[in-house]
Amino acid sequence: MVVSDSQDKMYYPPEDLRKDAHVPDSNSYLALYKKSLENPEAFWKEVAEEFFWKKPVTGPVQQYNFDVTKGSIYIKFMEGAKTNICYNVVDRHVREKNLGEKVAFYWEGNSPDHYMTITYSQLLGQVCRCANVLKQLGVKKGDRVSIYLPMIPELVYTMLACARIGAVHSIVFAGFSSESLCERIIDAQSSVLVTADGVYRGEKLINLKQIVDEALEKCKEKASSSINRCLVVKHHALKTKSGAASNKLQTPWDSECDVWWDEVMRDSPEECEPEWMDAEDPLFILYTSGSTGKPKGVLHTVAGYLLYTSLTFKYVFDYHHDDVYWCTADIGWITGHSYIAYGPLANGATNILFEGVPVHPHVGRFWEIIEKYKVTKFYTAPTAIRLLMKYGREPLQKYNLSSLRILGTVGEPINPEAWQWYHEVVGQGRCPVVDTFWQTETGGHVLTPLPAATPLKPGSATLPFFGVEPTILNEHGEELEGEAEGYLCFRRPWPGIMRTVYRNQERFENTYFKKFPGFYITGDGCRRDKDGYYWITGRIDDMLNVSGHLMSTAEVEAVLTEHPAVAEAAVVSRPHKVKGECLYCFVTLKDSREFTHTLVEELKKLVREKIGPIATPDFIQNAPALPKTRSGKIMRRILRQIARNEKDLGDLSTLADPKVVEVLFSQRFEAA
Ligand code: WT7
Repeated sequence: MVVSDSQDKMYYPPEDLRKDAHVPDSNSYLALYKKSLENPEAFWKEVAEEFFWKKPVTGPVQQYNFDVTKGSIYIKFMEGAKTNICYNVVDRHVREKNLGEKVAFYWEGNSPDHYMTITYSQLLGQVCRCANVLKQLGVKKGDRVSIYLPMIPELVYTMLACARIGAVHSIVFAGFSSESLCERIIDAQSSVLVTADGVYRGEKLINLKQIVDEALEKCKEKASSSINRCLVVKHHALKTKSGAASNKLQTPWDSECDVWWDEVMRDSPEECEPEWMDAEDPLFILYTSGSTGKPKGVLHTVAGYLLYTSLTFKYVFDYHHDDVYWCTADIGWITGHSYIAYGPLANGATNILFEGVPVHPHVGRFWEIIEKYKVTKFYTAPTAIRLLMKYGREPLQKYNLSSLRILGTVGEPINPEAWQWYHEVVGQGRCPVVDTFWQTETGGHVLTPLPAATPLKPGSATLPFFGVEPTILNEHGEELEGEAEGYLCFRRPWPGIMRTVYRNQERFENTYFKKFPGFYITGDGCRRDKDGYYWITGRIDDMLNVSGHLMSTAEVEAVLTEHPAVAEAAVVSRPHKVKGECLYCFVTLKDSREFTHTLVEELKKLVREKIGPIATPDFIQNAPALPKTRSGKIMRRILRQIARNEKDLGDLSTLADPKVVEVLFSQRFEAA
């Protein structure tokens, strides 16, 4: 790779990659990008030609209002056209492309002894059987199905089965607590829940069915539970584990509601006519943290999501037919929805479905899998890279990584050190690193390099994808030209953008469109450099990014104050070597309550139970008082500076009692 001598170190695409790339140089990128903005109708119509339409679009390809002052916000792509996304990502390859025998998934279990191969025709058969089972359980078009499953093939079967019959899936990451699951079931009003008996995550056995039962119990307490039936997968890998695990695992059972997956699947027919959906019918709901604490049900619809995930996958990973692609995310997050399930399958790709964790049973597990399947395109998160960096080069040197062509990252800004290591040590200096910026809300990549066309600068998500028009605004809502820093916004929709917050259009408009009328606001800060490259500087709202997962400070504060000893809590982020950011909590206790080690452990446990292990605080500091303005507003800026040991606090004159700050500073935690 050539390194330019300009101020920013540039990495140019390798020649051999450019030879047969879809977008082989920056001029082709610019030409296509221009077309996508100047003539979006023609651009997206052409993309749509790849797919099967029961009824083609006759009206306009896109219609929208992005300006709250002109009325309600709406976004529509290909409205009136009829299709089915499941047909397009599975049947089409088997029936029209003769790819039935091609591997859709290599499933690799938590333990390296457990693996299997699923071809596109096998996938079709299983999806149809599952679709028939769901129908039998009473699921109809438009009904919601909650899915709480680990990374096993049944997760993919179930989501695609929902899409096939027009049901709306709501996948809840299987690391979430019963409380979080309950909240998401109530909001979605799902009628069926699909889960598994249990799963091993690393060494740890997790009783999923028990968590589910607790969640359903809580649903009944809070509202009348909408769940009629619970479909339970028996995790096969557990059964074979010399019987030991199945003995350890007690599966609670309610014969009125629960059904075993194997029993109903056995006799279920392998054929199921897809439900022909309108392009703008809902496809799925996926919950993401909101700054008020209550998660938002981000709603995506059928056709726009198909077009966008499919096209971004093809171009950003420069997909070719013989690729073996691996994204290490969990399908419980948007990364897995778009870039394990829909995007790769829409392209007929061979994909890896990995159930395990990076360091089990050894720290070379990722590299072992890359060698085993000869992975060509690899997509992971900065937090995983930083974790694996700690073990040095040695674990990688045992494996042959020469199959790798392109590396990708997602979830948070990548620090230059991690970028370099990824590029030099994992990619052996040979593979472009695509740093993809996007959100649950955007459906797919919005700022991203194209590997053969975009010179890279470590730490920059570079340039917009086709159809995306970014802009940087200042506090007054003025668009800034040239080199600038401010709020990252978008001026118009692209097919993959969310359509609404499920059952809460008002919250949708308030969160994303109210602050700057005419623009979608991401919530991220951003800088544009002299070459027009975008650099994400991090969240500028009350959100934290822990290991690539967004959470809101309000959500954690609400849990902390549930504890009887806590009067008030304020949560801020502090940089963390592996997680990127971690939670630093200040708690003020009620009179007469004592701040003890036991209390700290209780509070951590409470957060783990109520939200999930990913939200466990790293630091909990006793705060006799919190820094507040005279009107009583907590000054988080100051708390953040205390947590980070930044001594220069600037103007404290708005504080009601400046002495508070000194006390908090003297008791802060040093580096972990
Ligand atoms: C937030 C969205 C998109 C899938 C995973 C997270 C941050 C994401 C990057 C990146 C800098 C990034 C942003 C964004 N983020 N990718 N490449 N560089 N920041 O989805 O949970 O909806 O979180 O993650 O802050 O707003 P999410």
